[in-house]
Amino acid sequence: MSTLYALAYLLAAVLFILGLKQLSSPRTARNGNYTAAAGMVIALGATVPQLHFTGAGAIIVLIGVIVGAAVGLIGARQVKMTAIPQMVALFNGAGGGAAALVAVSELLQFGSHPPINEALPSVFSIVIGSVSFAGSLVAFAKLQELMTGTPITYPGQQLVNGLIAAAIIGFVIAVLAIASIPFSFLSLMVLALILGVAFVLPIGGADMPVVISLLNAFTGLAVAATGFTLNNFALIVAGTLVGASGSLLTKLMSDAMGRSLGNVLFGAFGQVRTGAGAAVTGKEGRSVRTSSIEDLATLLAYSRRVIVVPGYGLAVAQAQHAVRELAELLEKKGVEVSYAIHPVAGRMPGHMNVLLAEANVPYEQLKEMDEINDEFKDADVVLVVGANDVVNPAARTSPGSPIYGMPILNADQAKNIVFLKRSMRPGFAGIDNDLLYDPKTIMLFGDAKDSLTKLVTAVKAA
Ligand code: TAP
Repeated sequence: MSTLYALAYLLAAVLFILGLKQLSSPRTARNGNYTAAAGMVIALGATVPQLHFTGAGAIIVLIGVIVGAAVGLIGARQVKMTAIPQMVALFNGAGGGAAALVAVSELLQFGSHPPINEALPSVFSIVIGSVSFAGSLVAFAKLQELMTGTPITYPGQQLVNGLIAAAIIGFVIAVLAIASIPFSFLSLMVLALILGVAFVLPIGGADMPVVISLLNAFTGLAVAATGFTLNNFALIVAGTLVGASGSLLTKLMSDAMGRSLGNVLFGAFGQVRTGAGAAVTGKEGRSVRTSSIEDLATLLAYSRRVIVVPGYGLAVAQAQHAVRELAELLEKKGVEVSYAIHPVAGRMPGHMNVLLAEANVPYEQLKEMDEINDEFKDADVVLVVGANDVVNPAARTSPGSPIYGMPILNADQAKNIVFLKRSMRPGFAGIDNDLLYDPKTIMLFGDAKDSLTKLVTAVKAA
């Protein structure tokens, strides 16, 4: 029988890996979810019969499964696309917390001197799982605007965090080398929870996707450690995959923002930023060029090549269907349209891909930054829809700028640049964008969806 369980876990592991592979392309991502979910069902199916629950234990597990499944199902169905990062934070935090609790229960069973191969992964799981649980809840609260999204800092903060970390190390040594008593490992858990909160407080709300990805990696490691304690192969594989993919995603996101992970975690980015609602009128004495909808429609309709650059404002305005409609209309008029996707456009990984896929934009038209950056110089018009930082030339030219070093889309090389945004306000990085003042740039102020709808009508008439 145990061979059968082992084979089921192996099959589950293969499905997890195949699912991840499929998730790496928009075309196969939906199936990737199903593949990984099938792996999870198989892993659960092989685990439950081995638990031998009876009486009250079985009822508690059943209630847990029913409540968890209901919350997951309703939550996933009702969540708005813009709220996905905080939902991921909640799910992730639950995983970390569960791993920590399982480790505590294991330590309780082993008595005061557990074997090191049980104690070490359990202690690891308690610390990392608790940090992930508490940190994820703070990340959720920041993104859900239940608390301020600006970094919360105070003098000596790093020292306080360092002292908490030192106390954690002290208790780890106590549990492993002296005695594994509830006082020690529960204190460890409480301190790790405090560290989770303290670690995320100084990080700005808009950096949360990176932090959530890092905490996701933490949860994966905690789960893998729990797998060692429980001797469960499926947990070890699944946890390691989550740990590895979360770490890679964290690195990719930091790199795409041109910032080190250290800067994201300890830089209190956004602390001195202009508040989201503050009006920024731009650099003194500089004016911008505007145009009528009709003139813009003519410019677009008589172009050979148009590149759309979507950004966070596309998500805010929910303008994905309107932009697809405009693109289709232009294509019917013989214009070649493609979409340039910056890796950190929007506020979460793959944000633009998901939105545009939802509006049935053909995958072939979505071009990654490296693929399309050489093509901007041949574009007649770059239509920047609610994007800002991802086309800001300051990333190349201003060493003092917070986005200096971030790879950007070469929108400035196009013959004409059209910005669809509501005002001169900056984007996430809170800095002015010289491209808005470029003589080649035309501003179309207003909500992106409204502007696109008007452009569609005008192009039809052009
Ligand atoms: P941003 O630079 O944040 O610019 C978005 C622009 O959208 C704003 O300037 C805003 O201008 C405009 N906007 C907002 N609502 C709008 C609406 N209803 N209609 C039209 N325009 C609207 O966005 P981006 O270019 O996508 O850059 C993303 C930024 O987020 C980068 O700095 C990146 O590092 C950061 N970030 C990304 C991620 C991930 S993983 N994607 C994670 C964390 C941080 P108005 O207010 O004038 O309309």
